[in-house]
Amino acid sequence: MPSDLNNSPAWVALQKHQAAMTGTHMHDLFADDTARSTNFEASCGDLVFNYGRNIITNETLGLLINFARQQDVTGWRDKMFAGAPLNNTEDRAVLHSAMRDPHSADKTVIATHEKLKQITGDIVADKGITDIVHIGIGGSDLGPRLVYKALKAQNITHKTLHFVSNVDALELTNVLKKINAASTIFIIASKTFTTLETLTNATSARAWLIREAGQDAVAKQFIAITGHNKKAQQFGIAPDNILPLPDWVGGRYSLWSAIGLPLCLTFGYDIFAALSKGAYAADTHFKTQPLERNIPVLMALLSLWYRNFWDYRAQAVLPYDERLKYLPVYLQQLDMESNGKSVDRDGNPIDYATSPVIFGEPGTNGQHAFYQMLHQGSDIIPCDFIFCADESYHLEGHHDKLLANALGQAQALMLGRENHAEPHKNFAGNRPSNTIMLQNLSAETLGTLLAIYEHKIFVQGILWNINSFDQWGVELGKTLARDVLEYFEDDETQNLDATSLHLLAKLKD
Ligand code: F6P
Repeated sequence: MPSDLNNSPAWVALQKHQAAMTGTHMHDLFADDTARSTNFEASCGDLVFNYGRNIITNETLGLLINFARQQDVTGWRDKMFAGAPLNNTEDRAVLHSAMRDPHSADKTVIATHEKLKQITGDIVADKGITDIVHIGIGGSDLGPRLVYKALKAQNITHKTLHFVSNVDALELTNVLKKINAASTIFIIASKTFTTLETLTNATSARAWLIREAGQDAVAKQFIAITGHNKKAQQFGIAPDNILPLPDWVGGRYSLWSAIGLPLCLTFGYDIFAALSKGAYAADTHFKTQPLERNIPVLMALLSLWYRNFWDYRAQAVLPYDERLKYLPVYLQQLDMESNGKSVDRDGNPIDYATSPVIFGEPGTNGQHAFYQMLHQGSDIIPCDFIFCADESYHLEGHHDKLLANALGQAQALMLGRENHAEPHKNFAGNRPSNTIMLQNLSAETLGTLLAIYEHKIFVQGILWNINSFDQWGVELGKTLARDVLEYFEDDETQNLDATSLHLLAKLKD
């Protein structure tokens, strides 16, 4: 039975409204309502979300909120926080937020934080340790990678953190060249402890350490973060060096769990706690704010508006801050792995669009790469402009120029410039964007920003009636890669297609 969401009353009402809105230009909406900039704004702590530059009116917002009510967003939200098994294909709860809840009485949450504090205390105090190598991929890599880059100026322990995710040997080799075996801790982060890339890198790192420092070094210098304690022990990791990762924390939502260990080791536990505090503030906002002022709900509804009613197929994330360099790639996994789905939560095929393509680059680099298309291309790409009032580093004039570019670009997308004598110099404008402004990029505001996006993605999944917490789409390619590996080993054809066989034959030439 196909899902009939797109025949539901709230959907049909939005469809009709979209037809009526076609041809409306945002510059007229601003001209008609001088308070638009302040009315279409919500905040959470030091984070301001301004959404005036969207093709919406109060009527649009009302219809979108009706849609959220029809889909029972608040009911599902409460079920998630109460620990219902929302990840129904894996029969798992979705409780990553418990990891950052200071009032959580859950044993695993308490034990995780105790263990993080203990290991952090031991390693930070050990001045002989100078480097941490974090081996993991996807959700076991991107969160720590993003936060490390964002908060690097606060590295109070002066230990250097290295990341290895790619199975391409170059990444590990480059890291091994920089470190000294006696003064390095290796963290193997893998929820499943089966991920090919992570296990391959971990195995090569272990072989290197044994060569350089002897067999005993593995038990002392390897730490695992995993949901599969036994597998980590079989790998040679000492039981006392294994931190838990419960199945109710999804990989891409795991930054708040023991996956935060590399951050604790470089910034100290308190900074990690501040990150969690900021995320907890976003949880409270999401739980308590009315839908009309609820930032994740508003962000999700705007995304739905463009994806499903205007057929805008991508969304750009544009942080005007070098510290947020990895935000686009982090959000790619968070959004596309969560919501890139084609069946509803009951397994019925759906005939409406889900996750847009998420892409982005820090401003101003993106301006010199793909903004031409954002301004004049045939596709319209809604954008999130993100910037901070504080500066990453002070050099005379730089921060003003950075912010001027963010504001100038968003304005150009909205206003456009028509009737130029030369057609190639015309800009249609009316291209939507959100603006997210942070007072400063502290651990706390960063935590708020990331949790707001997490909840946005959750709400989108509810609006589309899909399960945002599984990722079966990554399995088939992994299985076929294993078949190719077997072919490398014994030349058997297995299940390979004609193109793979043809290319493999050329590889062997
Ligand atoms: O890409 C698939 C995936 O399962 C992600 O969901 C996950 O974040 C990543 O692989 C790493 O998985 P693990 O932590 O189990 O190694």
